[in-house]
Amino acid sequence: MKSRRKFNCILVTGGSGFIGSNFIRYLLDENLVATHGFDGRIMNLDALTYAGNPANLADVEKQAGARYRFVHGSICDSALLDRLFREEPIDAVVHFAAESHVDRSIHGPAAFVQTNVVGTLALLEAVRSAWTSAAGAFREEVLFHHVSTDEVYGSLGAEGFFREDTSYDPRSPYSASKASSDHLVSAYHHTYGMPYTLTNCSNNYGPFQFPEKLIPVVILNILDQKPLPVYGDGSNIRDWLYVEDHNRAVWEVMCRGTNGRSYNIGGDNEWQNLRLVETLCDICADELDRKVEDVRGLITFVKDRPGHDRRYAIDCTRLKDELGWRQTVDFTEGLRRTVRWYIDNLGWVDNVRTGAYRDWIEQNYSDR
Ligand SMILES: NC(=O)c1ccc[n+]([C@@H]2O[C@H](COP(=O)([O-])OP(=O)(O)OC[C@H]3O[C@@H](n4cnc5c(N)ncnc54)[C@H](O)[C@@H]3O)[C@@H](O)[C@H]2O)c1
Repeated sequence: MKSRRKFNCILVTGGSGFIGSNFIRYLLDENLVATHGFDGRIMNLDALTYAGNPANLADVEKQAGARYRFVHGSICDSALLDRLFREEPIDAVVHFAAESHVDRSIHGPAAFVQTNVVGTLALLEAVRSAWTSAAGAFREEVLFHHVSTDEVYGSLGAEGFFREDTSYDPRSPYSASKASSDHLVSAYHHTYGMPYTLTNCSNNYGPFQFPEKLIPVVILNILDQKPLPVYGDGSNIRDWLYVEDHNRAVWEVMCRGTNGRSYNIGGDNEWQNLRLVETLCDICADELDRKVEDVRGLITFVKDRPGHDRRYAIDCTRLKDELGWRQTVDFTEGLRRTVRWYIDNLGWVDNVRTGAYRDWIEQNYSDR
């Protein structure tokens, strides 16, 4: 059994987005300290782009007190990063911040290069200057964890799985920018000796996902009785993982993963898009007491996404064998929990849809 790294002060970037907010929620949950072993502090650095929503952590902010600090700012702002590293004894960085939506990357790739590539480089430079000793060597007790995607591997045919040694072959501006950031992180390890771990995960779903991604779009359109858009013929295949299982894996890799290694994370859970949407229809029909055929009747096929990757499937044997991680949330159960979360949190949905959370950000965070 490998010994666990111990962190006291973690900088989370992009912690107000979907996965990052769930990660902070997990680590700051007092009831889970005995499980994950973290009782230190978290700095959340988030630029609060359209995808960042302080409401995702409003309750945590109140309860966690001095264990949590929010910093409104960008990973591209080198002066801010240097100041943060001077102010706080940060011993780990978990880098979630990114432009994350493939469709947006097709319409405006420049923002993806700016945040995901240039921003990651700025963060790495700040880490390099803060974490190197006078002799120029990286301190041993620090760790940079980079959160990435399985999309860097490209597209699979009917057979096979992505493994950690699969060549990168990104196809969208989003995956190309994530692949670039992965390479930069690895380059900082080989060139400067920066200690790092990296994870490439499949599609996440769960609470707080911005309602532009497939699962929340489908749930909310069912609630509103609007068409459910399915790209092409709906036969593209994705692997799905509940966000809590992803975050437990990230944490295990941070605590026990081998320095300089990447780990695939997946759910062994491949679904054709159409089958997934039909299953969501069935769950929503049950939860909302509607007829399945009425809900399924909302499915509408739309023009396929350009360069739409055919199939993603992930082999996460390394994570399972080395660290003993297993996914815990069954897909149907996870989908039902997610459906219920959106139904129970329509105020959150309204704030996001009407943009009211943006006004709140202007009033509360304009000078931070
Ligand atoms: N969603 C998935 O299915 C999935 C799967 C695998 C990997 N990932 C990766 O996980 C990470 C988080 O994904 P997500 O779905 O939570 O994304 P998200 O879009 O919900 O959240 C991104 C967060 O980053 C913040 N951000 C953007 N630009 C920033 C900047 N310049 N400085 C500081 N903060 C900035 C946003 O405000 C937002 O809070 C990303 O790196 C993504 O590539 C996502």
